[in-house]
Amino acid sequence: MIQGLSGKRIVVGVGGGIAAFKAVEVVRHLQRAQAEVRVVMTPSATRFVGPTTLSGLTGRAAVTDLWDPRYPGEVHVELSAWAQGCIVAPATQNTLARLKIGMADDALLATLACMACPTVLAPAMHERMWNGPANQRNVAQLREDGYTFAGPVTGPLASGHTGMGRMQEPEEIVAILGTLLDDAPSGLHQDLTGRRVLISAGPTQEDLDPVRYITNRSSGRMGFALARAARDRGAEVVVVAGATEVSPPAGVRVVKVRSARDMQAAIDDALDGLDALVMTAAVADYRPAERAEHKLKKQTDEAPITIELVKNPDILAELGRRRATTRPFLVGFAMETRDIVKYARRKLREKRVDLIVANEASVAFGGDDNEATLVTPEGDTTLPRMSKLALAHRIWDHVSSAL
Ligand code: C5P
Repeated sequence: MIQGLSGKRIVVGVGGGIAAFKAVEVVRHLQRAQAEVRVVMTPSATRFVGPTTLSGLTGRAAVTDLWDPRYPGEVHVELSAWAQGCIVAPATQNTLARLKIGMADDALLATLACMACPTVLAPAMHERMWNGPANQRNVAQLREDGYTFAGPVTGPLASGHTGMGRMQEPEEIVAILGTLLDDAPSGLHQDLTGRRVLISAGPTQEDLDPVRYITNRSSGRMGFALARAARDRGAEVVVVAGATEVSPPAGVRVVKVRSARDMQAAIDDALDGLDALVMTAAVADYRPAERAEHKLKKQTDEAPITIELVKNPDILAELGRRRATTRPFLVGFAMETRDIVKYARRKLREKRVDLIVANEASVAFGGDDNEATLVTPEGDTTLPRMSKLALAHRIWDHVSSAL
């Protein structure tokens, strides 16, 4: 079950976009997490999803109109005073723009104008709308105003294209609010304000020739969850990312790299003034001894061919060799298929890092959840299975108290 929401009073705001039908799922996930839900919709949202559906699910009339005589008094003031958390899904470009300038011309915007609790915005729009300069300005300002963004993500869009702008999955949106409420009962923690953190994410690709490479199945999700959590806690975030299937969160600086050596160079460039480095990247231990200038040709005979591999630099271990006063707080990940904590302890010593997050390959790779043990010189903390975002917050809790 998603944590942090049991018994909480949550307002779901629905904007007018095709993804509005997914607001139903958002409500469902909130209810499964034992939250109490009320819904407020923009007039155009009611053209995409029936208020009756949302009223039926929540047992309370979905608020669609400030002038509805069924609501005496000020429904927007009452709703926002009732709420302990809020999700706007989908947040359309129009809703974001009006929110940014403080308009209150419908029930949703008037409610948001009074809202004093953690609010998660889940944008959904076409990629060109999302990337438009006005929208990007609005998003940047809303982040500064303290809103948390869930997505958007890259995927199939209503137009039939694939691109950035698809609404984050309802369960993930709800999990993000759960983490916020779990971690910050009185609003967002800003315990990393003024801190610079770097997170490496995803796999490296080690070239054999111009078209072939050796890589692994790292998705980048754990690294991006760490980046999102650090951003939401006020840090300045740099992500050094190999080729990943998911998109990094907005509002962080992303440096794209391919090989382990590219990753090491990018990390070296960003070391100045860095408070913490979290290496979630699945760095290839070896690379082909040579990268052929032209595509390797198939041999005409049946004889096997051999690829010679040479060792890559161990980025984390090289930084670990620096004196503790001249290096950032170092966090490594240890992914194993057996004896995870035993190997993690050895890694903590050998790489001379401050924290190793030990996780098991079958759980950690690809999915949205993870299960880990935090291994430090002072001892181990075994955590239950949770979303990667929730785990990211646990890791930052540790780093933040150590800094
Ligand atoms: O030794 P192992 O690869 O299991 O260690 C994993 C940790 O070390 C991860 O944090 C990974 O990002 C980092 N690492 C590295 N450079 C390498 C290999 C791993 O920084 N060449």
